[in-house]
Amino acid sequence: MSSKRVVVTGASGLLGRAVLAAFKQSKWTVMGTAFSRTGMDLVQLDICNKEKTEEVIKNFKPTAIVHCAAQRFPDKVEQDVDGTVRLNVAATKNLANLAAELGAIMIYISTDYVFDGTKPPYSESDIPNPLNMYGKTKLQGEQVTLDANPNHIVLRVPVLYGPVEYLGESAVTVLLQLIYDSEATKLVSDNEIRYPAHVDDIASICVDLLELKETNAEVKGIYHWSGKEAMTKYGMVRDMASVFQLPMSHISPDPNPSQGTSRPQNAQLSNGKLENLGIGKHTPFRVGIESVLAGWVQRKKSEGL
Ligand SMILES: NC(=O)c1ccc[n+]([C@@H]2O[C@H](COP(=O)([O-])OP(=O)(O)OC[C@H]3O[C@@H](n4cnc5c(N)ncnc54)[C@H](OP(=O)(O)O)[C@@H]3O)[C@@H](O)[C@H]2O)c1
Repeated sequence: MSSKRVVVTGASGLLGRAVLAAFKQSKWTVMGTAFSRTGMDLVQLDICNKEKTEEVIKNFKPTAIVHCAAQRFPDKVEQDVDGTVRLNVAATKNLANLAAELGAIMIYISTDYVFDGTKPPYSESDIPNPLNMYGKTKLQGEQVTLDANPNHIVLRVPVLYGPVEYLGESAVTVLLQLIYDSEATKLVSDNEIRYPAHVDDIASICVDLLELKETNAEVKGIYHWSGKEAMTKYGMVRDMASVFQLPMSHISPDPNPSQGTSRPQNAQLSNGKLENLGIGKHTPFRVGIESVLAGWVQRKKSEGL
């Protein structure tokens, strides 16, 4: 059994599933925890339960924790601010302190939504200014992580896509449905700019960061990783339609800012600090989205759509 032992929280989630797989593949001894989707080999754990979390984590004796569990849907955050603070901030603080106590390094997954999106691209030293509660709680999560141990790592990432259990699981894959809902004309945002990243790219960066840290104590603090292609939602839809040769004449670009919870216009994260460490992985969007959505498109075809 490897002496490298990692706990992945949120291992049933979009990113956590990929992170768990990447550490398994790299021969780490892994324990994935989940809250409600605890099939397969995941350990059921409510990380808001401090005592139980201490018991489970201490029993496993990790050398690292990759903390993916969070409430990450901005609209749901606004509906339950107290619950989100318990999960995104208080539980994060507990995990970061536990890791420090056990001599383990924690990677806390954060977001480009800590920035207001007015002056991209953002480097790690730029001052955050989150526009919504989601971004605020994630920023507080960063602060409690680095307060617990400045050797911990914060990895900020953009909107993610990857293999999904349902199309709405990712803000990217959900757009496929718009192509199939062709009875009415649709306006799709061509305003906010995003840099989508494949979850496998982020998972591989997590492994590389922890492995590099074994020989380089300077690997600590905040890092950014972003996809390399600037895209609006409309641009993503256009690429999906083109990759799968689907009609999209019912969809038009909407140049106006999106309604609802405030979101940054363009919070591009610069990749330079990670690239200087020799770390980074980028799956081209058309390649990644084709592999992620092929099964879904096939399913729609077999339904006669
Ligand atoms: N998805 C994105 O586009 C995106 C973009 C930027 C940053 N991020 C960040 O990336 C990280 C991973 O996001 P994701 O997209 O993988 O999220 P996700 O798919 O929504 O998964 C959330 C995970 O948290 C777990 N969880 C929820 N409440 C819990 C609790 N009380 N105790 C323990 N676990 C709990 C869920 O478990 P169950 O499902 O089993 O209940 C699930 O595994 C988050 O920190 C998020 O802020 C995500």
